[in-house]
Amino acid sequence: MPGTRDLHGHAWVVETFGGPDTMRWTATVTPAPAPGHARVRVLAAGVGFTDLMARQGDYLLQRKAPFTPGYELVAEVVDYAPSAGDDPRDTAALAPGTLVAAALPKMAAYAEYLNLPAWQLVPLPEGLDPVVAAAVPLDHLTAVSLLETHARVRRGDTLLIQGASGGVGRAVARLGQLAGLRMYGTASAPGAAEQLARYGVTPVDYRTQDFEKVVSAAEPGGVQAVFDHIGGANLGKGYRLLAPGGTLVSYAFTGRPGRMMRDTAVGAARVKLMNLRPGRRTALCMVPNELKADHSWYRDALTRLLALTRDGSLRPAIAATRPLREAADVHQALERREFTGKVVLTTAGH
Ligand SMILES: NC(=O)c1ccc[n+]([C@@H]2O[C@H](COP(=O)([O-])OP(=O)(O)OC[C@H]3O[C@@H](n4cnc5c(N)ncnc54)[C@H](OP(=O)(O)O)[C@@H]3O)[C@@H](O)[C@H]2O)c1
Repeated sequence: MPGTRDLHGHAWVVETFGGPDTMRWTATVTPAPAPGHARVRVLAAGVGFTDLMARQGDYLLQRKAPFTPGYELVAEVVDYAPSAGDDPRDTAALAPGTLVAAALPKMAAYAEYLNLPAWQLVPLPEGLDPVVAAAVPLDHLTAVSLLETHARVRRGDTLLIQGASGGVGRAVARLGQLAGLRMYGTASAPGAAEQLARYGVTPVDYRTQDFEKVVSAAEPGGVQAVFDHIGGANLGKGYRLLAPGGTLVSYAFTGRPGRMMRDTAVGAARVKLMNLRPGRRTALCMVPNELKADHSWYRDALTRLLALTRDGSLRPAIAATRPLREAADVHQALERREFTGKVVLTTAGH
């Protein structure tokens, strides 16, 4: 049974869109959970590039201000209020003290306490470090969506990963390696080529090489999938690299600062129009919507990813661990590109 006491804590709140200084460390009161929800104490929350865009008000799936950023967390269950409609497979393991991971379709992870629907909470395998687990959900669920839901790749298929050195790109590269794929990946960061080679990815430096020329010379028959987070001219070039029946999956668009939402909407419309051409497919990947629409997919995929992390098959690159209290400073440092890899925020409870 849930406790009746309110829990007092803090959360970061973006009060108005803008720079990191628009985030306020704000006192919160978390009441006993409603039926079908668990009240959790957050131990660790991952910081993604998307959090920065949302803080600026420049993100397609934008929350209205005020809101609390953060798509992913690991937490300890404080109490859980069962509901007649709960799937017992989802809720059997929500005893107080259970460690759970979650991706939150509407953000809110930069908080000390939260009430969350039971379906969002996936138990952590025994022995998995909460900090490491907090770096898994968003990037790796995106990778699963790109590879399995949208591109439906099979062992031996060839693909091109744009931004293969980034959070999502690295997750695709590692899962692609486990799935027996042949991969090319664009990147420019120092050391990225060596890191990608370890995943079995052939690196292409997008600053000094034309990726379309490099990949078409190496793969004259085309590739089965291209994953793109840039948009613009990249879309046409990626599409031309596809083998018959291949798929271009777009999961972000680089827009002009302050006009990102509009630029993303235009890019998404273009991807949809391209799909009308026969012979090849295009698709849009939007994981926050996908996990909300299909709870079983989300729970199965996250359970599998956490198990792969527990057995050492996945090793998310964690650039730094910082107290949750320092989230605004972390945003500032990320904007200065001071970190390569995921930053994980931790609370006093961890
Ligand atoms: N659709 C979804 O559901 C979903 C989910 C998660 C994230 N996202 C979005 O996906 C994007 C990437 O996220 P992330 O967390 O992986 O970001 P990230 O860690 O910052 O990585 C982005 C990578 O893009 C590379 N890059 C920059 N310009 C490039 C270019 N012109 N061509 C090729 N690569 C380029 C950079 O590589 P170098 O540093 O090596 O140059 C960087 O490593 C963001 O826009 C994010 O909002 C979407």
